Amino acid sequence: MKFPTLLSLLTLTGLVAAGPPPKPPKPPGTTYLYTVNITGGATYPVGPGPYGNRLVVPILNGTFSGPRLKGTVMPVGGEWGVLDTSHPSQTAFHIDVRQTFKTDDGAYIQVIEGGSSQPDGSAFATMRFDTGSEKYYWMNNIVAFGVLRQLGGGGLTIDCWMFNTPPATAPPGPPA
Ligand SMILES: *[C@@H]1O[C@H](CO)[C@@H](O)[C@H](O)[C@H]1NC(C)=O
Ligand SMILES: *[C@@H]1O[C@H](CO)[C@@H](O)[C@H](O)[C@H]1NC(C)=O
Repeated sequence: MKFPTLLSLLTLTGLVAAGPPPKPPKPPGTTYLYTVNITGGATYPVGPGPYGNRLVVPILNGTFSGPRLKGTVMPVGGEWGVLDTSHPSQTAFHIDVRQTFKTDDGAYIQVIEGGSSQPDGSAFATMRFDTGSEKYYWMNNIVAFGVLRQLGGGGLTIDCWMFNTPPATAPPGPPA
């Protein structure tokens, strides 16, 4: 049996419209997921190595809140980011963050996050979630991104959205 291509499977399931894309393609919609405040501990300057100048910062605690999930950030995980100075005019910090969320109704959600600082000083990240919770299982299947903000006192805030098909539709799964 010939294996169907991914595109033919998606077309069969009605997820992707057949035919050429509209010109120019429509940008995807977005749905706000949550904002998380993270308090980090002391920085461990691992230093310049083969992958950049690495900084390790443990997560002490945190809180997250959004329309469909809220809770606390467990005291595990952290930042393992690297500062790339290979080309001084294009210096950037590349984040590598893991967080474990506990929702107010007792589910754990693992968050794996990567991203980069931008020349104007802003920083963006993409995040993947994994959880075995039936209520939050839809989060395993979304594509999400965040905007980082620095809080005073070494804290970090990340505002997070997910992509959806235009026009904006409600995310899959039961409402929170
Ligand atoms: C988080 O940890 C910091 C440092 O230990 C502490 O000052 C702060 O009160 C804690 N916040 C929460 C919400 O537990
Ligand atoms: C994050 O911190 C800001 C500033 O202290 C606060 O206004 C906001 O409610 C906090 N959000 C969460 C989810 O903890």
